[in-house]
Amino acid sequence: MKATTTITAQSGTTASRALRQEGIIKEATGLTDVKTLRARARQGIEDGAMTAGYKAKVETVIRLLNEALATEIVCVLRYKRHYFMASGINSLGVKAEFLQHVIEEQTHADQLAERIVQLGGEPNLSPEGMLSRSHSEYVEGDSLVEMITEDLVAERIAIDSYREMVTYVGTDDPTTRRILEGILAQEEEHAEDLASLLKKMGP
Ligand SMILES: [Fe+2]
Ligand SMILES: [Fe+2]
Repeated sequence: MKATTTITAQSGTTASRALRQEGIIKEATGLTDVKTLRARARQGIEDGAMTAGYKAKVETVIRLLNEALATEIVCVLRYKRHYFMASGINSLGVKAEFLQHVIEEQTHADQLAERIVQLGGEPNLSPEGMLSRSHSEYVEGDSLVEMITEDLVAERIAIDSYREMVTYVGTDDPTTRRILEGILAQEEEHAEDLASLLKKMGP
């Protein structure tokens, strides 16, 4: 049964289709009608992708994304350090893995920065305080095993913090949530890669 607020019309007739397109007939979908959507989109047009329908607390989302951005940058730096410092007979495959992670963490950082701008914020790329904004630490490590272990710890921290962020955003900001979920899935792959490298290297 189709519920209407203003006019009742037989569905399927040309007249009712026209009224529905105009947004005059409102079906019981819970979705906002066309006229309201159009009017809302014109308000605050300078806000770009941010519309009146945005439900999350944007300042909090931007702050969380900036913390994640700092985490990713610290991860890029740590993996780079490990890539250049890895040596020994076991290092070839490990170096390749570190380099791949450098590239992927950088991509995560860029995705986060881009989303921050879309939300009307500014990506905080200042080196000042970067490490204290970051969730994970920058540990250099002396041996290959130490480096991989520290990277695995950092990935596990990232996994937990992304999972919490996904829960916080919930259904209030689906785009941010999708970005966070994509990154989370890749951090889980990273952790898995590192855990299997550790196993291969033995005790
Ligand atoms: Fe990452
Ligand atoms: Fe990662």
